[in-house]
Amino acid sequence: MGKVYLIGAGPGDPELLTLKATRLLAQARAVIYDRLVPSGILAYANPSARLVYAGKEPGRQQEIQQDILAALVEHASKPGIVVRLKGGDPMVFGRGAEEWLHLAERGIDVEVVPGVSSAISVPALAGIPLTYRGVASSFAVVAGHRQNLEAPDWSCYRGIDTLVVLMGVEFRDIIATTLIELGRPACLPVAFIERGSTPEERVVTATLGDVARGRVLVQSPAVFVIGEVVSLRTALTAAATEAAVAH
Ligand SMILES: C[S@@+](CC[C@H](N)C(=O)[O-])C[C@H]1O[C@@H](n2cnc3c(N)ncnc32)[C@H](O)[C@@H]1O
Repeated sequence: MGKVYLIGAGPGDPELLTLKATRLLAQARAVIYDRLVPSGILAYANPSARLVYAGKEPGRQQEIQQDILAALVEHASKPGIVVRLKGGDPMVFGRGAEEWLHLAERGIDVEVVPGVSSAISVPALAGIPLTYRGVASSFAVVAGHRQNLEAPDWSCYRGIDTLVVLMGVEFRDIIATTLIELGRPACLPVAFIERGSTPEERVVTATLGDVARGRVLVQSPAVFVIGEVVSLRTALTAAATEAAVAH
């Protein structure tokens, strides 16, 4: 019987992999990886490892998830290390715990290797801290996909200073409208960070009102940050530019 390591690949930059993830990738017999895991990270896999793509095409998620579970059980039935590689951290909107439970119920040994979640790291890399003394002392990470919008109670985030929405690109205008209806000001600064930590990273800043009016064009995957902390970006990134010039 093999052992499955449920590993977080971080937001995209291979240098944000943990040392433990890098070591296990080099030892693995099979690597089952998700759509958001870039090829630069797979380059750390053992050259003789079997690489299995497990990306979920829209509309077939449930069916593909069943195939992934079956593939994990099959690969784990032979001796050696099986890596299940997921974008960011495997326990943040990644179905990591569901896969762990499925394997544990079949007597398969599982160990988690946490990864750097896009929720915190992608805003930070763009010069947006989720908390800042005197500006924001709390944040929440929320799923912005359809399931969460159909049974939403966005009012429960009322007292939270910074909202970080993952999977929120498609329904961004509905999310923004709902938050304004619940009392957030339309002038509140927001940011979308597309493909954070990769060479294709793009940051779009706007206001909540702009997003509600459908004026903000962005592509998935992106982290949607809502709150006053977004306005710190200008000063933080300007300071970085000045330091680079000074050296
Ligand atoms: C299914 S969730 C998985 C989150 C992941 N487990 C994590 O901890 O980052 C996928 C969403 O994460 C966000 N995301 C992941 N990687 C990203 C990146 N490099 N840049 C921007 N957003 C990213 C996007 O909102 C995307 O729709």
